[in-house]
Amino acid sequence: MIKLISKGINFLLGHQLRKKNIFLGNSLINLKRERKIDNNYLDYVRLSALELISYEINRKGLRGNTAELGVYKGKFARYINQYFPDRLLYLFDTFEGFDRRDIDRDIQMQFSAGKQDFSDTSVEGVLKIMPSPEKCVLVKGFFPESAKEIDDDFVFVSIDTDLYDPIYHGLNFFYPKLVDGGYLFVHDFNNDGYRGVRRAVEQFCEELQINFFPLPDSCGSAVIMK
Ligand SMILES: C[S@@+](CC[C@H](N)C(=O)[O-])C[C@H]1O[C@@H](n2cnc3c(N)ncnc32)[C@H](O)[C@@H]1O
Repeated sequence: MIKLISKGINFLLGHQLRKKNIFLGNSLINLKRERKIDNNYLDYVRLSALELISYEINRKGLRGNTAELGVYKGKFARYINQYFPDRLLYLFDTFEGFDRRDIDRDIQMQFSAGKQDFSDTSVEGVLKIMPSPEKCVLVKGFFPESAKEIDDDFVFVSIDTDLYDPIYHGLNFFYPKLVDGGYLFVHDFNNDGYRGVRRAVEQFCEELQINFFPLPDSCGSAVIMK
């Protein structure tokens, strides 16, 4: 009887969630090792993929640091910092929102209107939520100009700038610096609100004759592995 009631509740709840395009399922139920997943972060697929990747990178003992280009308030960057506590985390952002030059380019190419405002953030606020702030290297300014002095090897990079230009420049900057076995995430690859993301990834991968994997997280990420 209890089993039947529980089945009914699951069905009704599942039906309501499916109407909102939310799908529930067991994830990695046969994995014996303990997962380190924060239940407060809403995009399970994105976070879970990062956690699994960090496990592989650390297990293989790959050498190199980590970076995020497009940090905003540091919501995703804090998990990069958490999963790679012994590595540097470079944080690239204007910390003042989109740059006019990138917006104009997106409008001209009809990729997006570039209207979202990401200026309500600060370097201090981002550092405050990092579990290992001493490992963070803040690179404030317009990318790629801001990266002129940076030369390092990377095991993991997240690119999340929404607009075509910084994504295309970011791929050109980071991919050659990615170690063998390293991973690069590009967020919003399947977000029709920012069509320049897909264009930049496809163009870059075609030019280099490399492949990517589309991740079914909430805005769709492209994952490139070297
Ligand atoms: C979608 S937000 C990043 C969200 C963040 N990764 C997260 O998960 O919460 C995009 C960020 O990219 C930054 N950005 C866009 N173009 C940039 C550029 N050319 N140089 C530096 N930062 C840029 C914006 O300032 C903004 O903070």
